[in-house]
Amino acid sequence: MEVIVQKTPEDMARAAAREVANVLNAKPNAVLGMATGSTPLGVYQELVKLHKRGELDFSHVTTFNLDEYVGLPITHPQSYHQFMHENFFRLVNIPAQNIHIPSGTTTNYPAFCAWYEQRIRECGGIDLQILGIGSDGHIAFNEPGSSLSSRTRLKTLAKQTIDDNARFFERREDVPIYAITMGVGTILEAREIILLANGAKKADAIAAAVEGPVTSMITASALQMHPSTRVYVDEPAASKLKMREYYDWIQEKMPGAPPA
Ligand code: F6R
Repeated sequence: MEVIVQKTPEDMARAAAREVANVLNAKPNAVLGMATGSTPLGVYQELVKLHKRGELDFSHVTTFNLDEYVGLPITHPQSYHQFMHENFFRLVNIPAQNIHIPSGTTTNYPAFCAWYEQRIRECGGIDLQILGIGSDGHIAFNEPGSSLSSRTRLKTLAKQTIDDNARFFERREDVPIYAITMGVGTILEAREIILLANGAKKADAIAAAVEGPVTSMITASALQMHPSTRVYVDEPAASKLKMREYYDWIQEKMPGAPPA
């Protein structure tokens, strides 16, 4: 894991967006794994800016979202379908047929989940997966105790996650209890992963994920097993990392292009 500490959430968003742009410039038909929640919003805003300036084309891009709440129609203001449409898809030029978001209203979850996994394979796998992290250390909705080889499935949300996400709903009771989510095993198959976190509320989860043992109690810690994950954090989210100085040293001494 490479840890990249940025001064502010805005710096973090710009750095992560640059990484997405680099992938798309190298492979215009890349497959992107998308996350929702507050954390990646800045990255989406930066990508939209690059697109509006004519510097980034999404016309050959395919996307797969990590998760969706069960029981919310796609038109519900808090559904992840709405979130993605409002904050990203309506603002760039990804063809509608290339967009995949898990269904929160299917009548057959096992069949839908198997289909979702198969679609990812048919599209050649995910080139770059964007992730946030829950305060309980989850990635996607892989709550503590999720198998580290889990695949897309229905998952019961932890009380901590329901509390955290209640801020988006009128009442806590309105937060769905179930979600459909890519599994940890599904996520680990992405070729590149970027994990984003900002704010002091994420400091414990980031320290556990990056420097703690690999454990299903903190599903983000499974990323330690992934060959190419970069962790973008702002100062408060990095505040509990013991090896902080070393991570900064690595960035400072990053070898540039060899002399000609
Ligand atoms: C959302 C997702 C979740 C969030 C996490 C952090 O698609 O997969 O794992 O990334 O709950 O949410 P925020 O960014 O709102 O703190």
